[in-house]
Amino acid sequence: MAVPAPRWPEPAHAISEGPSPIPLPPRRVPVVRHGYVPLSPEDFNAGAALGLSTPPPNVLIQGDCLEVLSFIPANSIDLIFADPPYNLQLRTADLRRPNNSLVDGVDDQWDQFSGFEDYDRFTERWLAECRRVLSPSGSIWVIGTYHNIFRVGRLLQDAGYWILNSVAWVKTNPMPHFRGVRFTNAHETLIWAKKSEGARKITFNYRALKELNGGKQMRSDWYLSICGGAERLRDATGRKLHSTQKPEALLERVLLATSRPDDLVLDPFAGTGTTGAVAQRMGRRWIMVEREPDYCRLIQDRIARLSPPSPVPAPDETPSSPA
Ligand SMILES: C[S@@+](CC[C@H](N)C(=O)[O-])C[C@H]1O[C@@H](n2cnc3c(N)ncnc32)[C@H](O)[C@@H]1O
Repeated sequence: MAVPAPRWPEPAHAISEGPSPIPLPPRRVPVVRHGYVPLSPEDFNAGAALGLSTPPPNVLIQGDCLEVLSFIPANSIDLIFADPPYNLQLRTADLRRPNNSLVDGVDDQWDQFSGFEDYDRFTERWLAECRRVLSPSGSIWVIGTYHNIFRVGRLLQDAGYWILNSVAWVKTNPMPHFRGVRFTNAHETLIWAKKSEGARKITFNYRALKELNGGKQMRSDWYLSICGGAERLRDATGRKLHSTQKPEALLERVLLATSRPDDLVLDPFAGTGTTGAVAQRMGRRWIMVEREPDYCRLIQDRIARLSPPSPVPAPDETPSSPA
């Protein structure tokens, strides 16, 4: 059966020239500076409801992905990278190093669930929506730790996805384990899956990966450092602006492996926007969803600092638009 053509919202108003408050006032700026559009879920839905068929350029949507995903057309996304809440269930409010300094753990509000059942319901819902929007030849990556990845793996399979690989991101510089009662937690797991067992023609750039790996076939253990140095987003006092910012090298490998130039990449849990920043640098289009306004502002700043990609015509610059 023929897959219906995706129907896209057309940007309802402003095209960003860089950092700006979200949501933006309803106005039209006929110039694209950095090639992305920040939208509220309402704008995004309004475009979808109008049935506009113009594919959007890169889009940042501030909202709950459970709501936003429902506005995205079925079968329209080439690649999904999801870094969902971990449900860490941190019981120790004040974890300290031997020198008594405070450990910067993941105790954020966005990581709080009332228990496994609550977390599983949430996971089932976003996995189902991601599967609906994923193209039959597309694939999804989900990253997590021992706290959540086993539950996510089971729910992925229950939802109908077909797991292709799991990859261990081995952290070359993990956070030390201070209390000496467990192993140092030095890796995260990525699951790579396709939409269904029968899905065919999944993008896998075998040769490019082999080249990256000194001529040898790429393995499923990736040795990469955690996000640090100039890449890590911090405030003026040096405090991390997000507790779980992923390294760009990790996303570069994911995108190199499983997407092609111009593909549309979705990140439903954007955080600091690592996926979109790397996608944009690599010539992929992106949609990112992030619930927290502060993180959306970080993303806007980050994308604005990238060198502009080739210009995308704004709606009122297209030949068919009224003057
Ligand atoms: C693990 S972090 C992602 C970090 C990101 N990969 C990066 O490199 O910065 C998860 C993010 O998902 C966001 N989030 C949690 N629940 C959400 C939801 N229902 N919809 C949209 N974003 C959500 C959180 O605010 C948080 O920033």
